[in-house]
Amino acid sequence: MNDIKIYIEKHKDRFIEELIELLKIPSISADSAFSEAVISTSKLIKISLEKAGCDYVEICETPGYPIVYGEKVIDPNLPTVLVYGHYDVQPPDPLELWDSPPFEPIIKNTKTHPEGAIFARGACDDKGQLYMHVKALEYMTSTNQLPCNVKFMIEGEEEVGSESLAWFVKKHQEKLANDVILISDTGMIANDIPSITTGLRGLSYVEVEVTGPNRDLHSGLYGGAVANPINVLTKMIASLHDENNHITIPGFYDRVENLSTAERAEMAEAPFSLEDYKKALDIDAVYGEKGYTTNERNSIRPTLDVNGIWGGYTGEGAKTVIASQAFAKISMRLVPNQDWEEITNLFKSHFEKIAPKGVIVKVTPHHGGQGYVTPIDSIGYRAAAKAYEDTFGKKPIPQRSGGSIPIVSLFEKELKSKTILMGFGLDSDAIHSPNEHFGIFNYLKGIETIPLFYNHFTQMKLTEL
Ligand code: BES
Ligand code: MN
Ligand code: MN
Repeated sequence: MNDIKIYIEKHKDRFIEELIELLKIPSISADSAFSEAVISTSKLIKISLEKAGCDYVEICETPGYPIVYGEKVIDPNLPTVLVYGHYDVQPPDPLELWDSPPFEPIIKNTKTHPEGAIFARGACDDKGQLYMHVKALEYMTSTNQLPCNVKFMIEGEEEVGSESLAWFVKKHQEKLANDVILISDTGMIANDIPSITTGLRGLSYVEVEVTGPNRDLHSGLYGGAVANPINVLTKMIASLHDENNHITIPGFYDRVENLSTAERAEMAEAPFSLEDYKKALDIDAVYGEKGYTTNERNSIRPTLDVNGIWGGYTGEGAKTVIASQAFAKISMRLVPNQDWEEITNLFKSHFEKIAPKGVIVKVTPHHGGQGYVTPIDSIGYRAAAKAYEDTFGKKPIPQRSGGSIPIVSLFEKELKSKTILMGFGLDSDAIHSPNEHFGIFNYLKGIETIPLFYNHFTQMKLTEL
């Protein structure tokens, strides 16, 4: 497979141009004004899978956005790899913070990406990473080196909770049957420190609404005499953490898995510089749950964060008003064993209970999902580790991530197979933020590493090493 390097060198300009075309379409799943763009992206994915050598590709309609399914089955007796990715992206706002328009991709050099990076919404999450798989397939089919069967399942609702995909997976277990699921939708430590994600956090996302008086009031005439929904909401939110930054919801930690001292010591060995971390974010101190390191706080510990808060007057100048209502969106990141529906209920009853007299509190659950951990002794993990070692010249470090891909635990439940998270993004790639980008090095390294995974996995699987 040495010729993969030659193949990439020969075709890399085209690989980049094709990705740029994909990034130009604003497939924002959260905003219905962009529904046509989301749908046309699914069509482009279909065409790209056909061109890359799938024998059969279909656009599967769902109650929401379509799922693109493609396959190349060369021999039913050989193992099957199922690739998952998502073609939808997060809304790009606030637009004024982008140095270049989010859907006009450009290549620029950065400190972490001296070989250049493509700047666009979705560059890393997940169009760039999913397209590595399409190009890896192109290489394997066009050079007659595909060692096993492959199926692709690319959805358009990941950023809004994967509701249609859950429905689709439950309905098509046989069609989706596989030996391993392969996803590139996570990150690695650094370009010279490869790592493989072995855990994802679960998620419970809720919206809260506090209603006080039946209309907005003059803050002089009524101020001090009625509950101000914004004051009340912020006080209630503040009470959700204690002085040690533990979450105060009763029962919240009941199922949290406590890692052994040995496991924590092993985690602490992963290369990490607190100084660089702070510098990258322009902060003078980190902040979080007492008794845990930064890496622990953002991977093995659950969290509760306000993602948005609004109410009252936020326009120019000053308006003296007590708003009738206040709102917030809150996410809780969960760790394995915590059940997202149970946590949602615990939150709801606690939040309703702590509401003072004089306001009405409403909690509306949005979406959620379970966390995931994958063992490092499975064939899939070992095949991936070998592939990274081949292309990076170093053993990858297993690392739990703080992010969530809720559908992964459903895959395990419904399809009974393990997921391998071969992510090639960096934390500094600014996913979900302005100026999201994906390194050209990372993009091409992904394309180089994926075919090696197929080879190692097939070999190991056939001999059950
Ligand atoms: N690709 C991310 C998740 C991710 C990124 C995991 C980096 C690990 C490392 C995914 O697209 C995402 O953003 N997931 C959402 C959850 C979803 C239900 C909206 C998240 O983590 O906020
Ligand atoms: Mn993603
Ligand atoms: Mn995302």
